[in-house]
Amino acid sequence: MTAKNESISEWLSGGGRAIPLFKVFMPAGVLDALKDVLYSGYIGEGPRVAEFERRLVPWLGTEHILALNSGTSAIHLALRLADVGPGDDVISSPMTCVATNEPILERGARVVWADIDPWTGNMDAADVARKIGPRTKAVIAVHWGGNPCDLGALNAIGREHGVRIIEDACHAFGARYRGAPVGSHSDFACFSFQAIKEITTVDGGALACRSENDAERGRLLRWYGIDRRSKRKDFRCEADIVEHGYKFHMHDVAAAIGLEQLKHVAGNLAKHRAHAARYDEAFAGLKTVTPLKRTDAGESACWLYTLRVRRRAAFVRAMDEAGITVSQVHARNDKHTIFRESARPLPGVDAFAAEHICIPVGWWLTEEQLACIIEAVCRFDGN
Ligand SMILES: Cc1ncc(COP(=O)(O)O)c(C=O)c1O
Repeated sequence: MTAKNESISEWLSGGGRAIPLFKVFMPAGVLDALKDVLYSGYIGEGPRVAEFERRLVPWLGTEHILALNSGTSAIHLALRLADVGPGDDVISSPMTCVATNEPILERGARVVWADIDPWTGNMDAADVARKIGPRTKAVIAVHWGGNPCDLGALNAIGREHGVRIIEDACHAFGARYRGAPVGSHSDFACFSFQAIKEITTVDGGALACRSENDAERGRLLRWYGIDRRSKRKDFRCEADIVEHGYKFHMHDVAAAIGLEQLKHVAGNLAKHRAHAARYDEAFAGLKTVTPLKRTDAGESACWLYTLRVRRRAAFVRAMDEAGITVSQVHARNDKHTIFRESARPLPGVDAFAAEHICIPVGWWLTEEQLACIIEAVCRFDGN
């Protein structure tokens, strides 16, 4: 799909075209913040990480937050804290980044696919209930495009069966469900601050925990099993490690960028949502192009705006000719060789994956670009 001599990253960010699908947001204040931290004499995990975690509290709706080096690390850590291991099953969605599901294999557990609602891209809670078995240890629910899953139903299933609920909220920073931030509803919620997310720390992530006990254990496991807050001077050498951990912590350079980003995120989210509302209105009467539905029980972060289009290849060509970058963003995971043992019929995923396509919706779009996208999509539908 990429033009000749164009890298994937150039293509996704628009390359030479007028309208990119994603754009990195980097406020000018980052430069001063970086200068301060880079020459402070301390760039590891320190006071800026602690402050970043405090500033995330109102956004994630819990005080038990661990800043990490990626969203993928957050998923690894959540599975570990849920004590997922060999012999366990984890119910998950294939309609996501492989970062959601590869950590399940890394724990030595088996992936059990649940089907999705083909009109939201989110996990079907009724199918999760059907697939719970004696080996089920956890469920991972992905909020496609930032639109919250049915967290009420999923958490009720978790409580009934003693299964931990992990949200992959990597698309959903700033989303809300039943009046409270995504991050406050389940045992764990995993966020990504990778380059093109609602906020970026270049690479980074966070794990929001419901319980202080999980957060305490996670705080040790994110750095080799050693308590970095220990008052002892030479804690690296003196600490006794009772449980082995990882090197998943965030450092102060990333946190300094994150702190600057947080000053702007409300404004950017408002733009994503306003653009999505414009598209909803403009595309309401179309015949062959249909937007996904968003939940009434909350508010999407609108990180993606996804359409279902029957003639997808022709749509992609038409958008390309109009200078608009579009993409499926994620391919279904269940077709990969690494997941072959989990294969099963998934009619909702089949319907979604055959037709889904994302159009630009982000904070960077100008009025002219919005009008151009609306015009191009409506023109395609009319042909
Ligand atoms: C749904 C989903 N889960 C997990 C991840 C992994 O996040 P990170 O790139 O921060 O490791 C991503 C990243 O794009 C994602 O989109």
